[in-house]
Amino acid sequence: MRQNIMRQGMTGVSDSSDSSDKAANPVERKPGSAGTAGAAAPAIKFIPALSDAQGARQAWDLFTAVFQTQPEGVWDAPGRVNLIGEHTDYNGGLCLPIALPHRTFIALRSRTDTQVNLVSSINPDSLAHADLQGLEAGGVEGWAAYPVGVAWAMRRQGLPVRGFDAAFVSCLPLGAGLSSSAAMTCSTALALDEAFNLGYGKSDEGRVTLISMAIASENEMAGASTGGLDQNASMRCQEGKALLLDCRPGLTSFENVSQQDCDLSAYGLELLVVDTCAPHQLNDGQYAQRRATCEAAAHKLGVANLREVADTLAAQTGDDEEARLAALKTVVNKLDNPVEMKRVRHVVTEIWRVTEFVRAFAQGDIERAGHLFNASHVSLRDDYQVTVPELDLAVETARANGAYGARMTGGGFGGSIIALVNQGQSQPLAQKIATAFADRGFNQPRALTAVASGPAQRVL
Ligand code: GLA
Repeated sequence: MRQNIMRQGMTGVSDSSDSSDKAANPVERKPGSAGTAGAAAPAIKFIPALSDAQGARQAWDLFTAVFQTQPEGVWDAPGRVNLIGEHTDYNGGLCLPIALPHRTFIALRSRTDTQVNLVSSINPDSLAHADLQGLEAGGVEGWAAYPVGVAWAMRRQGLPVRGFDAAFVSCLPLGAGLSSSAAMTCSTALALDEAFNLGYGKSDEGRVTLISMAIASENEMAGASTGGLDQNASMRCQEGKALLLDCRPGLTSFENVSQQDCDLSAYGLELLVVDTCAPHQLNDGQYAQRRATCEAAAHKLGVANLREVADTLAAQTGDDEEARLAALKTVVNKLDNPVEMKRVRHVVTEIWRVTEFVRAFAQGDIERAGHLFNASHVSLRDDYQVTVPELDLAVETARANGAYGARMTGGGFGGSIIALVNQGQSQPLAQKIATAFADRGFNQPRALTAVASGPAQRVL
């Protein structure tokens, strides 16, 4: 039985086929300028990040106003952009996210019963309620499924978690492919961890347990497929670092991440993020389809996952790129299905690109790093087929206007692009993209600047 959730206006769930962006969020999507082709583009808006102090204060104030008592504390968790390594996580591959300065804040107070009461600044006049007692997978509707599902997953593991009251505030844009849902589940997991003295949040190894609760919530309570990239980024990214995440099954928390220096300013660079504000289709199942196709292809090729193909071919051919591609062609040709052939080609080459990007960036070879961004986008567009015209236009405009490279980031089917540009170029480039969008009659996009930030934390 689904629980009766009162959630007037609590929009923001499932409006994106990118499972990373289905949580409630106060940065609402504005109706765009569709149909206004040729009109001058208004100035593009850059979304500022709330400081820890601002976010903590807002969440605290919302909590006290709604629940008439003080919270036990305020925690936050960041959204992410993935630099490269898209649709590789569920194939046992590599990804390279950074945490955004844009975060979701949760003020929380534990309860002695099993009731959960939630409010979001998106609609502070409307509360969502659930009862953890007797709750089953899929038993909560709407955005509340994300935080409630975390407590549900913890209890299922036998952890001593009860009900709670919580207030959410966020500066992460919704439906932008920037993991607002992971920011919500991970901030909730960390808050519950402290409120119920579980002790997992203090170590990286313990955080991996909290990540598994966040993933269970998204998969089983909210019904959103996710491969783990977003939750690992939100819980484990470090300030000034990109998280090289190795999703090969069976690795320990000591083996599956390495922190890579990511000080863009040291290279005189900025990372521009443009949310295309492209309309998303609701729950269109495209993500799950891609995943199923990859699994079927791996099965036909006699491997546990497509990472094995990438590793085997890389070991056989070393640094000889031509030989690698030829070897990949031979493997791909064993598949009789043209769709499977394309999907495998994307996943395997994308895993290789992550390794190459890490090497190029560490060596300061920014031209090469930019080239790899571009190649990743082309592969996602042509082989994985997860881009939309807005993403392609934003990337093309960025490339035509001085970016070293640009690509879609996140699950695709809408959402955001990232562009690697010289310092000071983000604003003019974003405006050029806005103009190109106005010319095509697309929605007005919006932007933010990505700086590699820290993981989920307690802020008050
Ligand atoms: C979404 C999913 C992630 C990952 C990306 C694509 O964000 O939640 O797990 O699969 O898409 O890289």
